[in-house]
Amino acid sequence: MSANSAATGLLKQDLETPALCLDLEAYHRNAARILAALKPRGIAWRPHMKGQKAPQLAKLAVEAGAIGVTCATVYEAEAVVDAGVPSVLLANQTVGGRKLARLARLAGRSGVMAATDSPVHLRQIASAAESEGVTIPVIIEVNVGMNRCGIEPGQPAVDLAAMASGLAGVRLAGLMGWEGHVLSSQGGEKTARIRESLARLLDTVAQCRSAGIRVDIVSAAGSGTFLDAITVADGITEVQAGGAVFSDLSYQRWGLDHEFALTVLTRVASRPSPTRIIVDGGFKTLSDKHGLPRAMDLPAVKSLVLSAEHGNIELEQPSETPRVGDTVEFIPGYTDSTVCLHDEMCVLREGRLEAVWHIPGRTGR
Ligand SMILES: Cc1ncc(COP(=O)(O)O)c(C=O)c1O
Repeated sequence: MSANSAATGLLKQDLETPALCLDLEAYHRNAARILAALKPRGIAWRPHMKGQKAPQLAKLAVEAGAIGVTCATVYEAEAVVDAGVPSVLLANQTVGGRKLARLARLAGRSGVMAATDSPVHLRQIASAAESEGVTIPVIIEVNVGMNRCGIEPGQPAVDLAAMASGLAGVRLAGLMGWEGHVLSSQGGEKTARIRESLARLLDTVAQCRSAGIRVDIVSAAGSGTFLDAITVADGITEVQAGGAVFSDLSYQRWGLDHEFALTVLTRVASRPSPTRIIVDGGFKTLSDKHGLPRAMDLPAVKSLVLSAEHGNIELEQPSETPRVGDTVEFIPGYTDSTVCLHDEMCVLREGRLEAVWHIPGRTGR
């Protein structure tokens, strides 16, 4: 039984805790800012859902003006297609016979495009597509310097694009790159690294076109890079920035000044001393990946330690408040690693619960 689903209209401070809370109005303001940056340049928005998860958010983005969404797994992609968003870029490599068959079935009922970065994987996609009697549009992932997935730019990528153009079962839709390795750089150095990274993608696109290969989609950039990317990388057709709809302490550190639309609400379970506050959310609720969350509206905090079901806050100075039963709200250190800890998201408007969204897509269930 969901903790808060029967409680619409409830004030935020009365929710069962711990609760993942979305401020819908802040979400809309953040989404509008992304679109306002992209639209004048004719660049489309295809937000990454890996950190947002809830398919209703994919629908909201499309209603706001996104052309579709980006997903990391075939399960996420299925969830957003089920919710009515047919245009999906599956930006990670889908592998294994069962998952490839799943991708092919999904391609039969949506416009899902699949990332690939090697001839062997491309052949596997093509074979799954042929078994299902469909054609799967593919996006060639190019390594722009992150050294994670991605075929090397230049001739290796051009050869793979040529292969995709001629192989039965697939159709070349475009190329993508993700410059995530520059996130922590600052100022002019960051801009220069983004330009240099995305030049690898754009030069490869130009080489493909010179070789007579049609490239429609050129996809890149995330929430911590897109504002620079769109000014220095002419030729990108769409950006994948997703987490910018929430923002968090990591995105703030990476240069984004969006509102914090997603928080985790906890409640004080114990006050063992005037400086110690124990809340009912630990590492199963809050994540410390890319940095600890920050408690809002508390006197100066000396430390925060997360155990499984307890958050242990030590204040700099003694304080009588908050008292047992009071709420303590946290800004996530990183929303991507926080949302996936929760089964549901409490959606609030003007401080009242409007809806509770299930968070599916972690597995194929
Ligand atoms: C392929 C890809 N694109 C874009 C992003 C950026 O996503 P976000 O905008 O949600 O930070 C990531 C991950 O960080 C990614 O793996």
